[in-house]
Amino acid sequence: MSNVMVVGDTHFPACHSKYFDFVKSMYKKYRCNRIVHIGDLVDHHTVSFHKKHPESDSALLEYKEAIKDIEKWYKQFPRMSVCIGNHDERVVRLCADLGIPSLYLKEYRDVYKTKTWTWDYNFIIDGVYYTHGTGSSGLYPSFNQVKSRAMSCVMGHHHSIAGINWLVGPNTRYFGMDVGSGVDHNHVGFSYGKNHLKKPVVSCGIVIDGKFPYLEVMDL
Ligand SMILES: [Fe+2]
Repeated sequence: MSNVMVVGDTHFPACHSKYFDFVKSMYKKYRCNRIVHIGDLVDHHTVSFHKKHPESDSALLEYKEAIKDIEKWYKQFPRMSVCIGNHDERVVRLCADLGIPSLYLKEYRDVYKTKTWTWDYNFIIDGVYYTHGTGSSGLYPSFNQVKSRAMSCVMGHHHSIAGINWLVGPNTRYFGMDVGSGVDHNHVGFSYGKNHLKKPVVSCGIVIDGKFPYLEVMDL
């Protein structure tokens, strides 16, 4: 059984500057021995179907900035399971739109120089389902997954939603945890949301032995 640290959406290079130290300290506090990134490792603000902000970097500069951040995390956490998020997939989706088969593309681990990280759409650890949550919605998105899958679920994707909900039956006990995110909403990549009243919850999740979820919120 594992003590799993769950890192929220980081959207490198648009991650909050204090998030790395925060996750590191929570990893230590809960004596974690596994780490899952819940997806949207990178932002890809400049590689998108949407119009980019006129003051944003070029795609190459954004990549270089993201790589600097990733390097730091990779050094600290050389074994990470990364859920593939909708922002991570932007290049793949744009290529698919142009009719380019994925065999022409590099693996995520090669693009981001993270040889020993494992990338997949979902992971099951100690009976708990970890996935990014692309396409999910609602007030408690991970709880909807719990009801559909009949198992405990952990999700990211909704930056301003963080919390834990329980579904307990006579012989079962499942939880749904939305882990918030690690993003800096002042970054130019998030300027589209500057008038939104709901801001990102900067937080991370911890799951002990597949049974006990904790949500830790960072002091901004
Ligand atoms: Fe995200």
